[in-house]
Amino acid sequence: MSDIVVETKDGVAVVTLNRPHQRNAVTYQMWQHLAELFEGFNDNPAVRSIILTGSGNDFSAGADISEFEAVRSGLEESKRYEIAVDAAGDAIYRVSKPTIAALRGYCLGGAAHLAMSCDFRVAQNGAIFSIPAARLSIVYGVSATRKLFSLVGVTEAKRILYTGKRFSADDALINGFVDQVGDDALSAARSRAAEMAENAPLTIKGAKFILNGCARGELDRASAEKLIDLASDSGDYLEGRRAFKEKRPPLFLGK
Ligand code: COA
Repeated sequence: MSDIVVETKDGVAVVTLNRPHQRNAVTYQMWQHLAELFEGFNDNPAVRSIILTGSGNDFSAGADISEFEAVRSGLEESKRYEIAVDAAGDAIYRVSKPTIAALRGYCLGGAAHLAMSCDFRVAQNGAIFSIPAARLSIVYGVSATRKLFSLVGVTEAKRILYTGKRFSADDALINGFVDQVGDDALSAARSRAAEMAENAPLTIKGAKFILNGCARGELDRASAEKLIDLASDSGDYLEGRRAFKEKRPPLFLGK
């Protein structure tokens, strides 16, 4: 069985971290695979939204520490490793479709980076969060820290990173790390995905690009204008107007 499983149905791709016996700890190879996978979703019209989750009882206990000796021991290896982590997080962050992390059990360290790279985070009651980088003498990366800062604010981000302490799903809802808590994270994530699946892909692509740019404080205005024009010049815009006139739901194709 593969370490990452992808199932696509009704426009929703469910990406599952699949090493339940290691609490879905993410290996170097998996970081690389995640980057390729999420980049590939951009050009896949069969995928309208994406759920990221873990198999068994956990989302993930973070980077696979057991292989650090082999793949993240020296300075050069550590840099190379962090490039792979950031590439995975950034591919998830940038993919032009809505992404939802369905979180249960442990969501630790590098796994929190994966979750924070998604547009939305749904936690199951009992989920446990922590970024224990201070227990390993690792500085949490720039890209991951920026995402944490934009979700929880500077003081809470400092508390999370300086203490490495665990926090609950309810705490995560209060501090802004997650935006929903319920009894079944995966089914809540599926409902969220369904709410967006029939809407215009070009609208979501443009909104995501602009909002991500705002959140990072570096909006590429020219590229945003291109996405606005792309939607205005699309068959989907024509379809939206026709469907309104004909009093029927629009059928969007993303072009
Ligand atoms: N990397 C590699 N293996 C991991 C792992 C990780 N991040 N997290 C858990 N595992 C492995 C354990 O080594 C164990 O393997 P084993 O059965 O071969 O001994 C297995 O998963 C089950 O974990 P275990 O520690 O026995 O479960 P637990 O319920 O006692 O504790 C955790 C669970 C998650 C609290 C604990 O495993 C832990 O602290 N993991 C490291 C978390 C961490 O620091 N992550 C940040 C990385 S950036």
